[in-house]
Amino acid sequence: METTEANERPKILGGCMKTRNVQALAADHNTLPADILERYIRPEMAVDDVLLENNSEEIPVIDMSRLMDEVSRDEEASKLKFACEDWGFFQLVNHGVPEKVIDELKEDLMRFYDLPLEKREEVAQLPGDLEGYGQAFIASEEQKLDWADMLYLFTQPPHFRNYKHWPSQPPSFRDSLENYSNATQKVARCILGFMATILGIKHETISEIHESQSVRINYYPPCANGHDKMIGLSPHSDGCGLTLLLQVNPVSGLQISRNGKWLPIMPLPGALIVNIGDALEILTNGRYKSIEHRAVINAKEERISIAALHAPGFEKTVGPLAEIVGEGTPLFKSVTMIEYAKLFFSQKQLYGKKMVELLKLNP
Ligand code: OGA
Ligand code: NI
Repeated sequence: METTEANERPKILGGCMKTRNVQALAADHNTLPADILERYIRPEMAVDDVLLENNSEEIPVIDMSRLMDEVSRDEEASKLKFACEDWGFFQLVNHGVPEKVIDELKEDLMRFYDLPLEKREEVAQLPGDLEGYGQAFIASEEQKLDWADMLYLFTQPPHFRNYKHWPSQPPSFRDSLENYSNATQKVARCILGFMATILGIKHETISEIHESQSVRINYYPPCANGHDKMIGLSPHSDGCGLTLLLQVNPVSGLQISRNGKWLPIMPLPGALIVNIGDALEILTNGRYKSIEHRAVINAKEERISIAALHAPGFEKTVGPLAEIVGEGTPLFKSVTMIEYAKLFFSQKQLYGKKMVELLKLNP
């Protein structure tokens, strides 16, 4: 039996409205009626406030094999400390996710996006669903839309997987995603463990509580005559604790907010992009900050990315950790993860540092 009570659990978080498939729109965007295209035009998102590609600021690169090795650990941990405190974003190399696991998932995703629309829509997000193939946070017919299709799935703990939302084509998709999910969850917990050490708190306090993982697979179709007036993914910080982002094909698009500008990030081959989410900012009482980022679209090429979003288990508490607050003042409210997730999904929009703002005490 595929549907158990446990994997229906995420349903209580709410759902979204169905929207048009953007990949299909992009295929014939020259003949699209103006009123459809209009919903994707966002002049306020002008893509002109970007730092030059050759700027001197380089996103930190953390080598996980050096963190694992006693000889180089301290040196690499101090780089990690700087990356977390100053950037909130870094690239992770030698992370240990096997190349085969990454390649198999990439291959299956390319095959999924090559399927005809009717086949892809077998897992379309239905009204009231959060999971499936569609777009998140849509609540009205007027709302402006991102130029992307999203495939959102709960992947951890394993009993939260609801396979009716998982593509059955290609047939190896399920295994590929499960292997990738298991491997990335290990990496996320390992990095969270090192962060705990750096923060001088018990490993378990932030690493072990990150029991859940969902994945958001993003497909950004190209758009030749509107790429500078549309946005692939609206500016936002991630609501979870820690995100690992894998870029499936070598097309740039991710930009992070840095010193009031948008800094384009192009991952090193094989690297994962790691970033701190709102839940970790709240747990660390603001010591680590979530950083806003967005995805822009390309005039000629499609872009695909996979965000693995790691969050505390539903029964865990998201609030400033006593060990960090000490004699100080907690800056955020404490809520259970289930309340946190309900609040996150009830805001029908991606915007700014949503959860940090909503849970701030005395804003
Ligand atoms: C996300 C995200 C960026 C990208 O899925 O939360 O920020 O480059 N994605 O696709
Ligand atoms: Ni994000």
